[in-house]
Amino acid sequence: MTTLFDRYRLGELVLPNRVVMAPMTRVRAAAGALATPSMATYYAQRASAGLIVTEGVQPSLVGQSNPGTPGLHTDEQVKSWQLVTDAVHANGGRVFAQIMHGGRVSHPDTTGLHPVGPSAVPAEGKVFTPTGPKPAPTPRALLTAEVPEHADSYAQAARRAVDAGFDGVELHGANGYLIAQFLSSSANLRTDRYGGSIANRIRFAVEAVTATVDAVGAHRTGIRLSPGAGLWGAHDTDVPELYGALVAELAPLGLAYLHLEATTGEDVLAGLRDAWPGTLIVNPTFPMGPRTTDKAAADHWLGLGADLISFGRAFISNPDLVERLRQDLPLAPDDQATWYAGGDTGYLTYPTYQHGVTSDSFKTASLRA
Ligand SMILES: Cc1cc2nc3c(=O)[nH]c(=O)nc-3n(C[C@H](O)[C@H](O)[C@H](O)COP(=O)(O)O)c2cc1C
Repeated sequence: MTTLFDRYRLGELVLPNRVVMAPMTRVRAAAGALATPSMATYYAQRASAGLIVTEGVQPSLVGQSNPGTPGLHTDEQVKSWQLVTDAVHANGGRVFAQIMHGGRVSHPDTTGLHPVGPSAVPAEGKVFTPTGPKPAPTPRALLTAEVPEHADSYAQAARRAVDAGFDGVELHGANGYLIAQFLSSSANLRTDRYGGSIANRIRFAVEAVTATVDAVGAHRTGIRLSPGAGLWGAHDTDVPELYGALVAELAPLGLAYLHLEATTGEDVLAGLRDAWPGTLIVNPTFPMGPRTTDKAAADHWLGLGADLISFGRAFISNPDLVERLRQDLPLAPDDQATWYAGGDTGYLTYPTYQHGVTSDSFKTASLRA
């Protein structure tokens, strides 16, 4: 039986285990959306993961969703990321950058630009701004002629990612951001070739992936999807058909991987597994849901045919997560108050497992910390 600790060949990389660090926004970039030495330390601390996928990184200013997130659209940003990729590689790790265009989940107070989306339909809920959460603005619907440049922005960022030393990129097609907005029948009301039928709604995703493959190669290109998640009000009414069609279009491209969040029924996800000939990463929980990915959930999904399992929150507070899972050591809880707090507390301050301390006293100590 496959275990989390078996090696895995991913394109040209050999992963020493099947534990992936899931992408997690931590809003600690410096002015100019630059990566920082603290970010290099954070990712390097977690380099024993089979693969790290970074936080969402914007491919353009208008594509920035949250304040304080890093970018990959300027030369300075490329240079700043080199510190991160060097640090991860020096510690023996492998790292993909997650390219995230926020689309309508953005705000002029954050970017100085009016957000764009498939249609003039605002996201549900409040978006983060430098002065706190504010109602999501109504985006400007992209003209048909403008859509390809936004699809191509993923490819441009991928080129910069490879220049910065990343092993590859993951296109963020999940969680209600731009690609998911195009897929959605509630966020995308277009009547041109990018809206309406399933064939039209998947077109933006396919064009973004194809452009990225042309730019950096299929072995360096992955995509993350969250079928049926409905986040930020980007709902899909026809999940099996929509995602089945998308996966069928992407399958011949020979991508590094498909990264699925378990946001819909297991039967639908199992169908997508069968339809996908390449590497499948599964994130076994609903984003920000009450359950956090653990070893039991990981083994369950390995049993259902996933090749790799991504862990999110457990990696925030357990930099040595792989070793803790391997040895069945207790996991330290993460402190949600520091997810987006900035600074190094709750970022660089989680220790590796303290051997020599009994697991009970360790549990107590880490709960008090
Ligand atoms: C603080 C935080 C930030 C996140 N940021 C991102 C992100 O930038 N991109 C993304 O695809 N998912 C993001 N997620 C979702 C995680 O990748 C993951 O799907 C989620 O935490 C559920 O997995 P878990 O139960 O292992 O934590 C984020 C989650 C958390 C907790």
